[in-house]
Amino acid sequence: MTTTDGRVRHDPDGLNSAGAAIELANAYYTPLRSFFTRSHAPVPQIDVDSFRLVVDGMVATPLSLPFGQLRQLAHRTVASTLLCAGLRRDELLRLGPLPGELPWGPEAASNAQWTGVPLADVLALAGLSPDATHIHFVGLDDVERRGERFGFGGSITAAKALQSDVILAFEMSGTPLPPEHGFPVRAIVPGWIGARSVKWLGRITAASEPSQNYFQTSAYRVQRITDPAHPGDVTAGVPLAEITINAVILDPAPDQRVVAGPRTLRGWAIGRDGAAITGVDCSIDDGATWQPATLEAERDRWTWTRWHADVELPAGSHTLVVRAHDTSGVAQPAQTHEVWNVKGYLNNAWHRVRVVAST
Ligand code: MTE
Repeated sequence: MTTTDGRVRHDPDGLNSAGAAIELANAYYTPLRSFFTRSHAPVPQIDVDSFRLVVDGMVATPLSLPFGQLRQLAHRTVASTLLCAGLRRDELLRLGPLPGELPWGPEAASNAQWTGVPLADVLALAGLSPDATHIHFVGLDDVERRGERFGFGGSITAAKALQSDVILAFEMSGTPLPPEHGFPVRAIVPGWIGARSVKWLGRITAASEPSQNYFQTSAYRVQRITDPAHPGDVTAGVPLAEITINAVILDPAPDQRVVAGPRTLRGWAIGRDGAAITGVDCSIDDGATWQPATLEAERDRWTWTRWHADVELPAGSHTLVVRAHDTSGVAQPAQTHEVWNVKGYLNNAWHRVRVVAST
């Protein structure tokens, strides 16, 4: 559903909403009014004066850090595109139902500059044990699943957590984190699915096992074969971590009527876990022939690379397609059935957009 402010909303409260995909094509850094939000529970009200960030588990000195103390640590600004694992699920829904899952299109990805404290510095302050292999995050929101209430959470490997670009962010594109994006502080894990960038961060725990939070053990896992006895169950699947190579067409929009003749196609591409995009190909005939797109210069290690391609569209219907290449060398699958999985995560098949061109 699209509302008067131009946002696509997947629930009445707008907890899961985004600017129209075509808007995202207009700027390298996504304006806040267009940035997608993905929240599994209402935005918690957090009193910043009594807020404490707890750091515990396999550390020499557990911490309970007031916000003011966290802000006094050395800052770092990292450009990173946040990409929801549910991106482009709408295409997988054409293959079959995905009960309870949101029908995101390509609008569930946005780009920002995040400012905060490297997670590694906070872990060092607490005296991280060298035996810790996983860092758990828990948010201060109140999610209900299977009759239990708990904060949204998940974990990343200690090796990822110690990368200097993984930060505890309190600013987003130069402003304090807005409430819906995790005020006062959130994790930003560049190159990994958005679900690991836990908002309203309340607790960081160092451990020797992955998190047992529902969103690590029972969601955000890729399972390709449905268990007939438990159709939506993905506990046997592989937990999602790094994002895969992906590319989308943002402009024109699906089923848009366009004028036949010269037309510029626009979109973004992103590499696997920070791998640089080396090329983007476009097709106006469903992949029969391809032409290279122009990559825009403004890009950083963890961000999308915007691209455009000037094409000539004859009158009639066309299936526009985009695919990308990155330094990891892993190719995108050509068809959505190759990526189908029980909860419809990380669709990175060639993106197809049908348009009708008339004179
Ligand atoms: N953190 C908490 N505490 N609660 C959530 O529901 N959603 C996750 C992640 N962090 C979530 C969360 C998911 S699935 C995504 S894609 C990103 O936040 C979305 O971040 P955004 O709303 O700032 O775009």
